[in-house]
Amino acid sequence: MSNYEFITSGAPRQPDESAWKYRIRKLFTIKSMKSIDEDYQTSELRKSLNVFDLIMISIGGIIGNGIFVLAGQAAATKSGPAVVISILLAGITASFAALSYSELASMIPISGSSYTYTYATLGELIAWIIGWDLTLEYLVGSAAVAVGWSGYFKFFFLDAFGIEFASSWTESPFIFNSTSSTFEMVPGAYFNVPAFCIVIFLTILLVLGIKESARYASFVVSVKLLAVFLFIIAAGSHVNPENFKPFIPPNQGSFSSFGVTGVLSGSTLVFFAYIGFDALSTISQESRNPQRDLPIAIIGSFSIVSIIYVAVCIVLTGVVSYVKLDNPAPLSVAVNAIGLRWLGIVVDIGAVIGLTSVILVNLMGQPRIFFAMANDGLLPKFVSKVHPRFGTPYVVTIIGGAIASIAAAFLPIDVLSELMSVGTLLAFFLVNIGVTILRYTAPDAPRKFKVPGGPFLIPLLGAALNILLIATASVATIVRLFAWMAIGLLVYVFYGIKRSKVSNQEKCIEKATTE
Ligand code: ALA
Repeated sequence: MSNYEFITSGAPRQPDESAWKYRIRKLFTIKSMKSIDEDYQTSELRKSLNVFDLIMISIGGIIGNGIFVLAGQAAATKSGPAVVISILLAGITASFAALSYSELASMIPISGSSYTYTYATLGELIAWIIGWDLTLEYLVGSAAVAVGWSGYFKFFFLDAFGIEFASSWTESPFIFNSTSSTFEMVPGAYFNVPAFCIVIFLTILLVLGIKESARYASFVVSVKLLAVFLFIIAAGSHVNPENFKPFIPPNQGSFSSFGVTGVLSGSTLVFFAYIGFDALSTISQESRNPQRDLPIAIIGSFSIVSIIYVAVCIVLTGVVSYVKLDNPAPLSVAVNAIGLRWLGIVVDIGAVIGLTSVILVNLMGQPRIFFAMANDGLLPKFVSKVHPRFGTPYVVTIIGGAIASIAAAFLPIDVLSELMSVGTLLAFFLVNIGVTILRYTAPDAPRKFKVPGGPFLIPLLGAALNILLIATASVATIVRLFAWMAIGLLVYVFYGIKRSKVSNQEKCIEKATTE
């Protein structure tokens, strides 16, 4: 066994160290493996999950709004039938990150998020950036999926019982005008009640302490997959090749509406569809053989969802003209257009159940990150308060649920999902770069899984694609991302840096030994 120890730089200022050097060293303080290990020693989780369970859990967190809602909207407003190219490009980008993620995870064989991995490898500042960024991803993500849920919830009542809910209480009262970069009121729309209620309901369940078990995940995934497979098979026989023309509709003047740039911009939007595999790393401790099974599960679930996504995009844009897909429930629109009412009901049920689990995963992820950051002293202690009776981190769960429910009630899905996508792309960028850096700064650290092709090819290509997709997002979204990150840096500078438990620990610099 290697006795490699990451260098920890949390030592007090050395006599020969300038003030600046000391401050910079503190910014890159590394949390030692020993202290991470101690954090997790108390947990006695059963190692019961096999590769199949892991794949089901991963698919449970991945398939959601991206394919049920955004693929249709991307086709209608950005890519046309070439949305299949957008989804392929997004898949390639995400798969590079998945490989990099696997390598980073295999260096630290305990469960955790990319926040934990980064703290142990790239240091506190980058860990903070990832942690703060993931918070945005999870909060905005749960709101975005809740808005998608609301669309299918509404369609379910319409398809199954002929009951139509008024738009005034089921849609966002705002749309974002990307030309003038302003939010505009939608006449007659006030509040998205279903989206608000599903977030509040799931927040209450989380405070009371429900856990997603592998069996529950398998059930939800089976329903979701069944709905999607039935859609591909039954609607697939109604594909009319005329609907694929023009495959890439000509650009309409602005960068993101059609043409090649529109396909790229569509890719940023549907990138959302691939987010979610990172949830696997948080349960690696419950896996029987994480070093072997996690990479298999990540790559396996990726391959499965990629095939499904391509098939859905082809069928979706093949059965109905792409211009008709700008709707909160595009799959239902497509099946209704070809007169398959029964399939519409099946798709609505699959989406409502499937999207519920994605919202839940996101609402659970956010407290997990804040909880870890508060335990490290980077956020106030009250954030990590655990409920005396239910044993759940209720304070941060309630704060997160309140923010997400308000965002879901008022904001449109395109604004929320694009923000989630660019936030995730930033985290993936740091993870990709991290793999390359660590091959040099920690060459002898044990790696049970290595990204194939050396330290440059996949991680740097992945990082470049991340930047490309961020750059094709709307300026307003990029500004929102940087505003959120700037707030985060202020919190870190005025709070976290002074109270960080790791960087303020009174111990000497440990040297790396690579015998
Ligand atoms: N990948 C998840 C979805 O599409 C976030 O909803």
